[in-house]
Amino acid sequence: MPGRPICGERRIPSITGGRCRWPKASNSTSCERGSGVNAPVQATSSLLRPASRLSAIGVSEILKITDLAAELKRQGRDVIVLGTGEPDFDTPEHVKDAARRAMDAGATKYTALDGTPELKAAIRAKFKRDNGLDFAQDEITVSAGAKQILFNAMMATLEPGDEVIIPTPYWVTYADIVLVMGGKPVLVPCREANGFRLTADDLAQVITPSTRWVMLNSPSNPSGAAYSAMHYRPILDVLLAHPQVWLMVDDIYEHIVYDDFRFVTPAAIEPSLRDRILTVNGVSKAYAMTGWRIGYAGGPAELIRAMAVVQSQSTSCPSSISQAAAMAALNGPADIVRERCRSFQARRDFAVTALNKIEGVTCRLPEGAFYTFAGCAGLIGRTTPDNHRIDSDSDFAQYLLRRVGVAVVPGSAFGLAPYFRISYATSPSELEEACRRIAHATRELSH
Ligand SMILES: Cc1ncc(COP(=O)(O)O)c(C=O)c1O
Repeated sequence: MPGRPICGERRIPSITGGRCRWPKASNSTSCERGSGVNAPVQATSSLLRPASRLSAIGVSEILKITDLAAELKRQGRDVIVLGTGEPDFDTPEHVKDAARRAMDAGATKYTALDGTPELKAAIRAKFKRDNGLDFAQDEITVSAGAKQILFNAMMATLEPGDEVIIPTPYWVTYADIVLVMGGKPVLVPCREANGFRLTADDLAQVITPSTRWVMLNSPSNPSGAAYSAMHYRPILDVLLAHPQVWLMVDDIYEHIVYDDFRFVTPAAIEPSLRDRILTVNGVSKAYAMTGWRIGYAGGPAELIRAMAVVQSQSTSCPSSISQAAAMAALNGPADIVRERCRSFQARRDFAVTALNKIEGVTCRLPEGAFYTFAGCAGLIGRTTPDNHRIDSDSDFAQYLLRRVGVAVVPGSAFGLAPYFRISYATSPSELEEACRRIAHATRELSH
């Protein structure tokens, strides 16, 4: 949807030999600089001395594309932005009603630190109903979005130099949070041939005595790839052999899955790992509630307590009104979620078919989320009508934007090239027009 911000993704890491060792913030000639894309955050005035930890998280390439899209719009160009990370639906009416009622009833004060007892009860019921997981009240935490959950968990557990394994393509926030905490993201490329999923062998190879966490996201932003029980099983077997390693699973796209894919979460598959799994979820994507800022997690009580300490000195508690709204969402009817999912599926089918018809582009059918992650290797080396060579997915994304006014995000922004991500959480007519324009621009490239 034109003009809407792109959610959360940042800059490009470079990957060496399947494993990226990020330097610490303090001696930061960071490896993303090698990509030639990202500038570290700079002081804009001589009075400001930014903390060194910020130098590790550079300016996003995605922001470059959005900035360029905004600039072209200002110039009067017709630009379609396929970058948004949020559903194009509105929050369901019964959820908004619950928020209004909460305000009228005076629920406008601080709440319990990491979630009201009522919302925690709704979350426990959700975990039981949807995932077969039994959590006690003190094993549940609520924050201002799943992003804050991740932030709290990493701040509560990482020591400088601790390693966190992150499969790529990935939601770049994971690595940025690790970097800000002084940890080391260990990026593991996941090939398209493996459905963009981490394999047990890949995982076993990168675990070291310093590994603290593995982060998994299913269905994935940006690839839409999802792990079935069969995919998770060998990964969990590797973790069983490494008792120092914890698992963070980001299930935020749980309810956006297609065809006959059966969503499953690791704590339900291997209960003996339950004491070192943090199961993260939220209402942003399933209930179109990105602006309400409610995320939650279930995990061992000791970790949950440590995360609450972090929260106590940052946001104090999640918004009281949003918590009432999230409770209504979780306790409310599921058919609206299923209906919206069907709408996403129709758009996914359209986008994947349209992209696969374009010579030089290949697009895997994603199991979930609302993104396609299409390959553009076949276009590398071609020349644009104004005589520029397409050397990378970033070049291709820039070309699409300048030539036909379609903003997509290059795969390199998610740590895997050459690909490009489109979000199909936009109107069918806009999606259709965008795919037509991408096809047209690609035909104009010469060999
Ligand atoms: C994989 C993934 N996890 C978490 C989030 C953030 O969710 P929240 O809005 O709850 O912070 C996003 C948002 O784009 C995401 O793509």
